[in-house]
Amino acid sequence: MEPFRLHLFVCTQQKPEGVTSCAGSSSFAVLGALDGELQKRGLINEVQLTTCGCLGLCDEGPVMVVYPAGVWYRRVQPSDVPEILEAHLDGGRPVERLVWNDAPAMKAMAVEHGEKFRAAMAARDKAGVLPDRLDQMLRAYWPSRCLLTALELDLFTAVGDGATAAQVATKIKANARSTAMLLNALVALGLLSKSGDDYKNTADSTRFFVQSSKDNHRNSLLHLANIWHSWSTLTDAVRSGARVPGELPADHLEWTRDFITAMQRNAKERAPLVVKTLATANLRRILDLGGGSGAYAIAFAQANPNIQCEILDVPEVVPLTTEYVRQAGVSAQVKVRTGDMLQSDLGSGYDLVMMNAVCHIFSEEQNQGLFRRAYQALAPRGRLAVVDFILNPEKSGPQQAALFALNMLVNTDAGATYSESEYTDWMKAAGFAEISRINLPGPASLIVGLKKWSLAH
Ligand SMILES: C[S@@+](CC[C@H](N)C(=O)[O-])C[C@H]1O[C@@H](n2cnc3c(N)ncnc32)[C@H](O)[C@@H]1O
Ligand code: FES
Repeated sequence: MEPFRLHLFVCTQQKPEGVTSCAGSSSFAVLGALDGELQKRGLINEVQLTTCGCLGLCDEGPVMVVYPAGVWYRRVQPSDVPEILEAHLDGGRPVERLVWNDAPAMKAMAVEHGEKFRAAMAARDKAGVLPDRLDQMLRAYWPSRCLLTALELDLFTAVGDGATAAQVATKIKANARSTAMLLNALVALGLLSKSGDDYKNTADSTRFFVQSSKDNHRNSLLHLANIWHSWSTLTDAVRSGARVPGELPADHLEWTRDFITAMQRNAKERAPLVVKTLATANLRRILDLGGGSGAYAIAFAQANPNIQCEILDVPEVVPLTTEYVRQAGVSAQVKVRTGDMLQSDLGSGYDLVMMNAVCHIFSEEQNQGLFRRAYQALAPRGRLAVVDFILNPEKSGPQQAALFALNMLVNTDAGATYSESEYTDWMKAAGFAEISRINLPGPASLIVGLKKWSLAH
């Protein structure tokens, strides 16, 4: 029993230069056309569209298979898509001119192609050709840059329900020829579909990149476009050991808003897990250092009406924080104040001090100082909670934590990512006990330390 009315597999395998493949014969255009047609017919939830690897019939690509009928199609073109869908949705006859059901010939081709492929790979290896995975890593910024530029130009919103390149260019106030090039590249990347001169958003781009969508991520993703510029200085930063002092972005307020929007996206998802892990029953007063959007303080306030939170952040962020708190309807429980956590008076008597996605901004010495000051600010039995990317003991992974260290190198004066033992040592040195690490779903972990009651305090 199939869980879907139809299940369509489209081969999108890419192969090394000189070896035929479905990706090389435009299977992504077929995929885009299928996606567009399913959206148009409102069948996204009834028909499952799945990309797959090589089916062995590469010389006859693009290849697709339709289940439950188990029909194999070859040399499919985007213009064939409506006919194929209609035939299978109506339970009618498959599109005969595209069907391939000669099993012995198919098997012979698959075997022959497999042998040719292995021979080609062996020849490349012998000739010392750069392996594809290295080549792809080196060019990985091409797709990334296309998407970031499309987001900067708000191109997906301009494509809307469908538009030509000229119409999109007019809307985004850009050159028509270069807009067409970008649109075509986005089709090739599977982020748009194209039929004749018309471009359409895919289901994902409609949902995540178009302004009117409730799940639109564009504003938070613009932060990645902003930090692209600092990442371009990585070579100089590695040479000199410090970030390249650049001018402030042309519109620093906009930069800060994109940054806090991006932080809010991550924090909003993680905050309820942290609230659940730390439990709120014994909490009355919380200090959130560098609270950003206030997502954590808001989650604690919403979980327990007896909790009072204070958020400390820099002057340009505080108005944004205040607005998030107001929108969440917890202004009576969450107070926001301006200050520099490295220098300002932190206050005292808190049951919990939080440092979420904050330690990576600072150097080892600054974090040691912050942990000591957090300890002073806590009431006996109070806890310090740190959420961050935690490196393995060799500092070579997980990948995101190791790459994030470089993100801090190019974007901050002294930041980095740190290992569990570094956090534990700093907490111990500050006086904390019962230090534990709790892995959260996703790339970040939580480290908690307790301020023990003793006569000395
Ligand atoms: C990466 S964001 C994390 C925001 C929030 N904690 C979260 O997890 O979403 C770091 C925050 O620390 C704030 N910050 C950086 N340096 C600070 C300082 N010296 N004093 C107070 N806040 C600071 C930034 O403005 C920003 O809001
Ligand atoms: S690459 Fe598609 S069948 Fe081989």
